[in-house]
Amino acid sequence: MNRWSFPGIRRHWLISAIVVLVVIVVVAFASMIISMGAYNVAADEPHSKPVYWLMQAVRNRSIAARARNVVVPSDLGDPKRVSQGAGLYSEMCSGCHLAPGMEKTEISQGLYPRAPELSRGLAISPAEKFWAIKHGIKMSAMPAWGPTHNDTLIWDMVAFLQKLPTLTPAHYKAMVKNAPEEHEEMMNMPGMKGNDHHD
Ligand code: HEC
Repeated sequence: MNRWSFPGIRRHWLISAIVVLVVIVVVAFASMIISMGAYNVAADEPHSKPVYWLMQAVRNRSIAARARNVVVPSDLGDPKRVSQGAGLYSEMCSGCHLAPGMEKTEISQGLYPRAPELSRGLAISPAEKFWAIKHGIKMSAMPAWGPTHNDTLIWDMVAFLQKLPTLTPAHYKAMVKNAPEEHEEMMNMPGMKGNDHHD
């Protein structure tokens, strides 16, 4: 007889019972916290450090795992791509992510999690940027652009993001001014129709 055994109860039964009990207590405690409304979902109050760390880790690992099979086009440096991306970026992204020489918008100041200022550069690969833009990010304000934009246009934006950290305000302004005029115009260009669902 060792210190774990009781008459008639085998050691592994005792351990299983303790595990089940701990799970029940944890689930009961978590449901109590949720039903009491104890967790503050307000966007003007930051998460605690462990929750913030956990959410970032989940986001980073999720995007990295899913971007692994994304095939990066070889012409990302093509100035035509970058120019189209500039027009799309100023129209669709700068309201939240800002741009060189741009004042902080009201929406950018109210977001939580904050939208990163993409002109400062991002430590993720082009494939990961593509995935995040196409699919968006749950529980944040980052929308999925895939339902309304085909892969070609999304890669144009990635091409532009690669250049963005090197742009001065004047350079940015000039690029946006010279970008193809209409978003619609690009969407209707030959070969741009339809969504060729690659992840
Ligand atoms: C309504 C606000 C909003 C708009 C518009 C928006 N984003 Fe975001 N974006 C966010 C927020 C908020 C995050 C941060 C999400 C997080 O931290 O989990 C984010 C994150 C990202 C990331 C980073 C993902 C990572 O792993 O760090 C990229 C890249 C990105 N957005 C690109 C874009 C592009 C390109 C556009 C325009 C097509 C765009 N976003 C439009 C709010 C927005």
